[in-house]
Amino acid sequence: MFKLVCILPNGPLKNVLKRLRLYYPPLHRLMALSKGNTESLVARSKEFSELLNDVLINGVWKRTGLGRLTILDEWVVSFLTTSSGSFKILDVGGSDGSTTFDTLRYFQENLNVEAKAAILELHLRLHCFRRGCLRYYLTHDQSPLLLQIGPLGVLFEETKGKEGVVFNPIVRIIKKYLQCFSLEKYLKNDGDLILQSPLVENSPNIIWIEQNLFHFDPAMAETFDFIRCCNVLNCGYFSDAQIYDAVRLLTFYLKHKGLLLVSRTIDTSTGPLHTASLWMKNGEVIQHISDLNGGSEVKKIVTANGPTPQ
Ligand SMILES: C[S@@+](CC[C@H](N)C(=O)[O-])C[C@H]1O[C@@H](n2cnc3c(N)ncnc32)[C@H](O)[C@@H]1O
Repeated sequence: MFKLVCILPNGPLKNVLKRLRLYYPPLHRLMALSKGNTESLVARSKEFSELLNDVLINGVWKRTGLGRLTILDEWVVSFLTTSSGSFKILDVGGSDGSTTFDTLRYFQENLNVEAKAAILELHLRLHCFRRGCLRYYLTHDQSPLLLQIGPLGVLFEETKGKEGVVFNPIVRIIKKYLQCFSLEKYLKNDGDLILQSPLVENSPNIIWIEQNLFHFDPAMAETFDFIRCCNVLNCGYFSDAQIYDAVRLLTFYLKHKGLLLVSRTIDTSTGPLHTASLWMKNGEVIQHISDLNGGSEVKKIVTANGPTPQ
């Protein structure tokens, strides 16, 4: 949403601003955490993920954190079989990779295999520029995200709410103006902020594929034993046609008998609830295998279009 936000470190004011939807986390703190070595790796990674929980880029939250998807790992492991010594995972929209780190460790302990994971992530980096108390952040495709002046910032996110009718044209005009004017040319280049948990940086079994999940990559054909897509293929984020196309691509990337998991986490008063569905690739098609908590909202889109998404 295009709006004025307050950029503050942790503190009592943060929660008030969050409730008023006027809070955005300090992105320069993420940079310090990824480079720093004064605190322990675990402490840095924890704070890194906590800050990312409040980061919104192109209408999609970066929400993440160790332990967030443990229930899903425990559920899915009983459906997985490992015939060869190696096991390849694709985590689509893996944010900072901390949930991938968790899953890899869980599978290694419970499946007794050498598991390797690739994280397919579109918003892995932000381009950062600065002069004095002014900081300017651009997304991977050079689109303005945030202009910060001291503790105040202007967030260039389009809104899907009613207020978007008024604000979105303003956002588009200002973004266009900033892009034409190339504000960054007048600032010091602070390098790229890589939105990767410090824990993952030190994990040799995790690699990044910095790519759009809707981009077809023939090099990944029939490569993965398990593909996971949590909290990214949500109906609120993408159209039914886009979701169906994504499922087709992901099916293509699965090995024969490989599993596809799609889920969405819903915050309830008793804690997070994961609604998930699981499919198995059989020949060229995927077949539905099981559901958790009523299944994924994506199931109806896959079912409506038939069981053969290829
Ligand atoms: C809410 S996070 C999910 C993190 C993790 N999977 C989880 O469930 O805890 C959604 C992630 O999807 C990424 N994303 C959004 N659109 C994408 C796209 N078109 N291709 C790849 N990744 C995308 C976002 O950058 C974000 O990191």
